[in-house]
Amino acid sequence: MRIDSMKGRVAWVVLGLSVLIACVAGRIAWLESSYAALSTQLAKPVVANDTALIARGAYVAVLGNCTGCHTATGGLPMAGGRALKTPFGTLYASNLTPDARTGLGQWSADDFYRAMHTGQSKNQRLLYPAFPYSSYSAIDRQDSDALWAYFQSLAPVVTAVPAHELRFPYNLQASLAVWRWLFFTPEAPASSGIAGPAQSGGRGAYLARQLGHCEQCHAPRNRFGAIASNTLSGAVMFGQDWYAPSLIDLNDAGVALANRAATIATLSTGQHNKAVAVGPMASVVFTSLQYWQAKDIEALTDYLIQAQRTPVPPEKFDIDSTKLLRGAKVYEQHCSTCHAENGLGEPGIVALSGNRSLTSHNANNLVKVILQGGFAPATSGNPQPYGMPPFAHVLNDEQIGDVVSFIRQSWGNKAAPINELQVRALR
Ligand code: HEC
Ligand code: HEC
Ligand code: HEC
Repeated sequence: MRIDSMKGRVAWVVLGLSVLIACVAGRIAWLESSYAALSTQLAKPVVANDTALIARGAYVAVLGNCTGCHTATGGLPMAGGRALKTPFGTLYASNLTPDARTGLGQWSADDFYRAMHTGQSKNQRLLYPAFPYSSYSAIDRQDSDALWAYFQSLAPVVTAVPAHELRFPYNLQASLAVWRWLFFTPEAPASSGIAGPAQSGGRGAYLARQLGHCEQCHAPRNRFGAIASNTLSGAVMFGQDWYAPSLIDLNDAGVALANRAATIATLSTGQHNKAVAVGPMASVVFTSLQYWQAKDIEALTDYLIQAQRTPVPPEKFDIDSTKLLRGAKVYEQHCSTCHAENGLGEPGIVALSGNRSLTSHNANNLVKVILQGGFAPATSGNPQPYGMPPFAHVLNDEQIGDVVSFIRQSWGNKAAPINELQVRALR
């Protein structure tokens, strides 16, 4: 056993070294070409106190949800230090304010564009892809310059951002170089930035795929954490239990034409009568989507509508009527005061009947919401959302399995039951 694991380690090191040597040459060639591409992108000199540019940058920062990661809980805006847990260890978001020592004070607009486009810091350090530069890479140069001008206009804040705490071998720049060599190529810049026409078909794609980086959660990843397919076909979030549903399948959270208004409401206010943003999506609405201009929410929604694919037929399953009877009892005792006997919800409370989060093939989010409770995001369109109490200490695994199976098969909902083992795995 011990010898085996030693052998394994030696094999790993040998393999690692040879891959490394093989890719150094490739990496140098790649860097040269990406710098060459960069220099052709140089815009006219950016004037740091241009107020129109700063306003545009502030809005690009909203669209890109920079604050969602770069503002620590209780910390100053964009001053960094927020911890991001990944399966490889903990990363800390950088300070984007213009402090000379701990922030971007010494950066130029070119340095900033290089970080967004090629994922490299000013000192050429390769940046970890927890910073979603694989999405931002195609950012329009003027949008990048606007962002830079906006960050330079903030008051400088000194933040002692802790060093990243990653396990070996993920803490090595060489490993990251290999990862990037395999999975990341800077993308050609988008044809127009946010100053382009709102009605153009390209705008929705630019908002969804680049600035809004929806695919970072809604696209499947491989086991190295790289986005495996850049469709928004749904995935359990990397290293977490939350399921980010498919945005292109009607049976999941796909946006059918008939649901255009409902999707616009859910994205901009966090709630609609048959949908509510919960967990990580509630944060996205809270710090970003609620501040998007109406025309941009519409362009985003229209992009999702045209990305729609032919629905995958729902899975087949058996119905266990005693389980459903037990689930109905739990529902009557603990849930019906808020969600109503008929599943339509008391006023202001999300309906469970006809709610597609309930009929998704993946039931993780239902179990998580019941265990942990929670609130829809507070937005100007829904300023005082009602809360859902946590049931982790009230109901056992079997009861939660029963009630989830019941609500997935009542009031016209038709989705597979779940068992207590699935609940236990999520506790
Ligand atoms: C999902 C979380 C996340 C989001 C969203 C995010 N960042 Fe970051 N960002 C990070 C992390 C983590 C790092 C640190 C990466 C590293 O040190 O390798 C980082 C690093 C950076 C850096 C490099 C700083 C340096 O000192 O090298 C820049 C520039 C940056 N982000 C800009 C932005 C901008 C602009 C936005 C919004 C358009 C944004 N980030 C959105 C997580 C995020
Ligand atoms: C940080 C991860 C993350 C990002 C980024 C993200 N989402 Fe989500 N999204 C989720 C998760 C998790 C859910 C499931 C929870 C829920 O239903 O609210 C979700 C749910 C949704 C839903 C279904 C809401 C409902 O309940 O019917 C829609 C629509 C959606 N996301 C659209 C988007 C769009 C568009 C973007 C890009 C602008 C985006 N998401 C970015 C994680 C994310
Ligand atoms: C005190 C009122 C209240 C009670 C009791 C209650 N809920 Fe909720 N529930 C809510 C509210 C409000 C929300 C939306 C806010 C949130 O958590 O995001 C919600 C959200 C949900 C969701 C998520 C729906 C979605 O679209 O993502 C599910 C599933 C759910 N409740 C099931 C239950 C079940 C099952 C019970 C009983 C075990 C229950 N609730 C008890 C108020 C309640």
